Amino acid sequence: YEIEYHDRIASTNDRARELAAEGDENVVVVADEQTGGRGRLAREWTAPSGGIWASLLLRPPRPPAEIPLYTLAAAVAVARASREVGVDARIKWPNDILLTGEDGAERKLCGILTEMEGEADRVSWLVVGPGVNANIDADALPPDATSLRAAVGDVDRRAFLQRVLETFYELTSADADVEGILDAWREHAATLGRRVRIDTPGGVVEGEAVDVRFPGSLVVRTDDGDERVVHAGDCEHLR
Ligand code: BTN
Repeated sequence: YEIEYHDRIASTNDRARELAAEGDENVVVVADEQTGGRGRLAREWTAPSGGIWASLLLRPPRPPAEIPLYTLAAAVAVARASREVGVDARIKWPNDILLTGEDGAERKLCGILTEMEGEADRVSWLVVGPGVNANIDADALPPDATSLRAAVGDVDRRAFLQRVLETFYELTSADADVEGILDAWREHAATLGRRVRIDTPGGVVEGEAVDVRFPGSLVVRTDDGDERVVHAGDCEHLR
C-alpha cells in the first residue's frame, strides 16, 4: 500500500473517497488528528492528536454482499496488533475492538467505518477506516472509550499500523480462504457465548450469540430456541 500522511485532516475516510473518485487504489490515508472524524450511523468520532486514524482504499474483487469480510479482517488485524502490544483486545460484533477495564466494564479501543460504492455484483471502491485510540488520554475520549495509553502506555504508531496492514493483507489476499477470516475473528471474539441485544433494521433481536457466519453475520439463539441470522445492526452485550 502507498501511504498518504496528514498531520491534521477532516476525515481520512473522506480523503480516501476523494482518491477513489480520482481513480486511485491501494492507498492508506493516515492522520495524527481528525477535525471531522466520522463514526458509524452518522455519529461523530472523537479523533484528537495521538490516535491511529487510517483509511484503506481498495478495489476488491469480491461482490458487495461479501464486503463485511473485509471489515471483519480489519477488526482481527487491529485485535492482533493490540495483543502484540500487551492488551487483551476482543472484538464486539461486527467490528468494535474492546478492552475490559479493572472495573469489569468493556470500553471501546477502536471502531471501523466501512464505506463502498458499486453495483449489484461489482464493487467500484471500498474504504475501510479503523480508528484506534492509541496515544491519547482516556479523559479526552467519550466515557465508553479507552486508549492504549490508558491500558499499557504509548505505542509506536507506525509499527502498529504496519502490523495491522500486514495482517489485513494476509487475511484478504486473493488466495486466502473465507473460513480463515471467520476463524481468526472467532479467536478474538468478545461477543460469542454472550447474551446480546441487537438493534437491526428489522427490529430488535435478543438472545445468545452462538457463531459468526459468512460473510460476517451473527447467529443468535433466541430464548424460544430459534436461530436468527443477523446481517447488520448495533450490538449490545447484556452479560
Ligand atoms: C464507529 O465505531 O462508529 C466507527 C469509527 C471509525 C473511525 C475511523 S477514524 C479513521 C476513519 N476516518 C473517519 O472519519 N472515521 C474512521
